[in-house]
Amino acid sequence: MSEKIMINGEGITRSFPVPGGEFQALKGINLKIGEGVFAILKGRSGSGKTTLMNILSTLDDPTEGEVYLDDERVRDLSQRARENLRRRKMGFVFQSVSLIPSLNAYQNVEFALRMAGGRINKQSAYRVEECLKKVGLGNRMTHMPSEMSGGEQQRVAIARAFVHRPSIIFADEPTAELDSAMAARVTETFKRMSREENITVLMTTHDVGLMGAADEIIELESGERIS
Ligand SMILES: Nc1ncnc2c1ncn2[C@@H]1O[C@H](COP(=O)(O)OP(=O)(O)OP(=O)(O)O)[C@@H](O)[C@H]1O
Ligand SMILES: [Mg+2]
Repeated sequence: MSEKIMINGEGITRSFPVPGGEFQALKGINLKIGEGVFAILKGRSGSGKTTLMNILSTLDDPTEGEVYLDDERVRDLSQRARENLRRRKMGFVFQSVSLIPSLNAYQNVEFALRMAGGRINKQSAYRVEECLKKVGLGNRMTHMPSEMSGGEQQRVAIARAFVHRPSIIFADEPTAELDSAMAARVTETFKRMSREENITVLMTTHDVGLMGAADEIIELESGERIS
């Protein structure tokens, strides 16, 4: 594995104003995640996983501390530059699958490629098919979302997150709505795609059964990093 650091968080704190004061959701988090690493962010409900993920993916700013993505300091970037960064260099997968219901699996992935600025041609068609095959859906390309299981839909969402070859994928609880066998399969898919394409993946979960797949585990408790 390479030594290049893709995600670097230094002393990240995040407090929210609440009646009568402030609530510290993150209390000085330090982390470094390398290129091509499949990292799991674990911790109980309310421990700060989503808050941290939003900050690392440039959607939110820390109250204190710095985030560097591929050595670039996020604080220095305009909103416009952040949007560009998210669209071209990042992929996102969420708990509830949000495929476009009127497009089939292939079209959903192709649409994502187009949104990321990719041109549609023979090569892009090859790439879309390749991603769907890699997530084990080579035989589901023309299925509509309503014709697929939850796990299959989530794997289309993974193909969609990888198709434009981002540097980093953020996946917040992508397995929460799946049974344990499918959750394990989806997690393995992330791991394999991350390895094959050298993409950094940060996935949150509190499912201890999935930890074995991770190259690195970062654990939060009440806004602090405990491992
Ligand atoms: N906008 C906000 N205003 C006030 N408090 C907030 C806000 N967003 C999050 N919090 C608080 O920060 C803490 C961390 O929330 P966060 O959503 O990051 O937890 P989580 O680890 O993702 O939990 P889950 O596993 O349930 O998704 C929680 O106590 C939450 O109530
Ligand atoms: Mg959360």
